[in-house]
Amino acid sequence: EESQSFFDAVGGEETFRRLVHRFYQGVVDDPLLWPMYPADDLAGAEERLSLFLMQYWGGPSTYSRRRGHPRLRMRHSPFVIGAAERDAWLRHMHEAVLSLELPEELQNRLWDYLVYAAHSMVNAPDA
Ligand code: HEM
Repeated sequence: EESQSFFDAVGGEETFRRLVHRFYQGVVDDPLLWPMYPADDLAGAEERLSLFLMQYWGGPSTYSRRRGHPRLRMRHSPFVIGAAERDAWLRHMHEAVLSLELPEELQNRLWDYLVYAAHSMVNAPDA
């Protein structure tokens, strides 16, 4: 149906929670990425990324009620994100996206956005 949001089309909140949970299962085992994340607040990190993605794709705007305007590049400025960090992030996200087993068109839309967003988050030149 034309008016259905992408959020609804992929299965709503439950799908985004699964995506982000699976993503963080990769991150905790990643020697490059894991040191950047708050080890004592993994649940909080999962919550923030889930709520952001749900809001971005047309779900509830809980993220902005709790966190304000996303300003994602600014929020990532404390972290050094070069090509290696970006590619590691995308590798875990790709596994997570595939694990959802979405219809191909929806999977491609989601993946294309994540690739674009990850490239736009790079804030450090290659060594
Ligand atoms: C937060 C790393 C890309 C969305 C974070 C955090 C780290 C991080 C270390 C802090 C975890 C927390 O306490 O919430 C990275 C790296 C990336 C990347 C290495 C590689 C390119 C992205 C992309 C998006 C994104 C592409 C969006 C599609 C978020 C959000 C938060 C966050 C929403 C929570 C912001 C907040 O409300 O404080 N990221 N990130 N990140 N990231 Fe990323």
